[in-house]
Amino acid sequence: MQAYQRLPITFSRGQGDRLWDTNNIEYIDAISGIGVTNLGHSHPVISATIIDQASTLLHTSNLSEIHWQAFLGERLCDLSGMDNAFICNSGCEANEVALKLARVYGSKKGIAKPMVIVMENAFHGRTFATNSASSNLSNKTGFEYEDLISGFIRVPFNDLDAIRTLADHRNDIVAILVEPIQGEGGIRVFEPGYLKGLRTICNDFDWLLMLDEVQTGIGRTGKWFAYQHENIIPDVVTLAKALGNGVPIGACLAKGSAAKLLIPGSYGSTFGGNPFASRVASVVLEVIASERLVQKAEHLGTHMLKTLERNLEGIDIVNRVRGLGLMLGVELKTPHKSLMALALEKERLCVNVTREKVIRLLPSLISSEHTIDTIATKITNLVLGAHAMSLFNIGQAAKASGISTKMIRHYESVGLLAAASRTFSGYRQYSEKDIHTLSFIRHSRDLGFSIKQIEELLRMWQDPHRPSSKVKELASAHVEALNQKIQSLMLIKSELQKLVHCCHGDDRPECPILDQLALNQ
Ligand SMILES: Cc1ncc(COP(=O)(O)O)c(C=O)c1O
Repeated sequence: MQAYQRLPITFSRGQGDRLWDTNNIEYIDAISGIGVTNLGHSHPVISATIIDQASTLLHTSNLSEIHWQAFLGERLCDLSGMDNAFICNSGCEANEVALKLARVYGSKKGIAKPMVIVMENAFHGRTFATNSASSNLSNKTGFEYEDLISGFIRVPFNDLDAIRTLADHRNDIVAILVEPIQGEGGIRVFEPGYLKGLRTICNDFDWLLMLDEVQTGIGRTGKWFAYQHENIIPDVVTLAKALGNGVPIGACLAKGSAAKLLIPGSYGSTFGGNPFASRVASVVLEVIASERLVQKAEHLGTHMLKTLERNLEGIDIVNRVRGLGLMLGVELKTPHKSLMALALEKERLCVNVTREKVIRLLPSLISSEHTIDTIATKITNLVLGAHAMSLFNIGQAAKASGISTKMIRHYESVGLLAAASRTFSGYRQYSEKDIHTLSFIRHSRDLGFSIKQIEELLRMWQDPHRPSSKVKELASAHVEALNQKIQSLMLIKSELQKLVHCCHGDDRPECPILDQLALNQ
């Protein structure tokens, strides 16, 4: 099925933060399989664990105790400050569990139809419920809201007042589901105090605070979990992605009363938390802790943010660089979706472009400072290339100026055009200034200047040390020529008017053109 719009590339091998395609070309992986391979590819400890557990015990059902699942659950609770864990297979499934918890929580309070507050621009997955909780991103193509499940109220992200207003008017709300940093939504970071504010509101109204840390969790932002930046404890946290470093696994963690809502039968999963995935995830956590990768993400992230800000400062098409830890985004002013393919082709760099204009960067936590600098340099090249692409190509320049492409080439060859020197794909690009020059040429030509005169005029115009008196002389010649044209046109017009006037008798000859002119005079 064509669920994905894939790039024409296949990777066959990975080592650390590098990938190789089937032609053995090396790439820097700055997206980590969209925030999954925090420990890079083929991490020796993870590979050894996979081999050992695969040859010991891959799977048993949840009908019996699973040692590694219990171990993982406890470790996750230690790190997060939560009480209980449900281990599943993916991010959307973890969010499904959270949403079910909210429903059970509401029904226990006697609310007939419990509502969950979700955010504009949110992304929580692609199942029916998580699709409904997500904002109207492109992944919904073909599905209308009415086709999906109801029970969500959407408010703007980072807007505490919008939630307080809702709280004052409704008594059917039971929870807030929010990503601390909107990843798919364009790396939008929580404003200082936002998560704390959400915690207070949830305390005040007895709602569950449910944080989707599928992308932000497991050290990505420079803390084990993004909410730790604001020193709060949520009621529910969902995880996946980096938890298994590539082995599919997800988790829904809960605290307090939320941790006791599931009873046997209310949720389950055949694969969820099997010995294999649970042991790999447990070892992933140990490697992150022993290699101090959470602290490293904080340090490298700050360094990368500053480097990108410095490199990209003043480039016209850049809106802003933002992010936390190693979860960064470069927002451009206009859509540049093709940058993903260009990054691979020109820079041998794997990145992702989300919301059409945000370059999303999720490098692995094991990357060196040198690699982070290389990624920043490659991103700068890409952005400069995109800037060049936002200029005009020769066809567009011809259309905008009314000069043929052949003549544009001629003017370029005689040095009359400053076509953008920084070309991206080998083609010359034409700036606004070039278009002005070309339009100037066209108007001059229309006014009867010879190519030689125009060339002279332009050279002088573009000469920074041009003698102003000479330019003035030429400019007045221009104006003079224009005046003469207008005067002759006026003359023709009055002659035609006379002619029309003469023809207004009975002996008037048939002359539809003159009639038309008379109407329009
Ligand atoms: C914040 C967030 N939540 C949920 C999901 C869905 O996770 P999965 O693709 O594992 O179902 C994603 C995936 O990108 C995500 O970024």
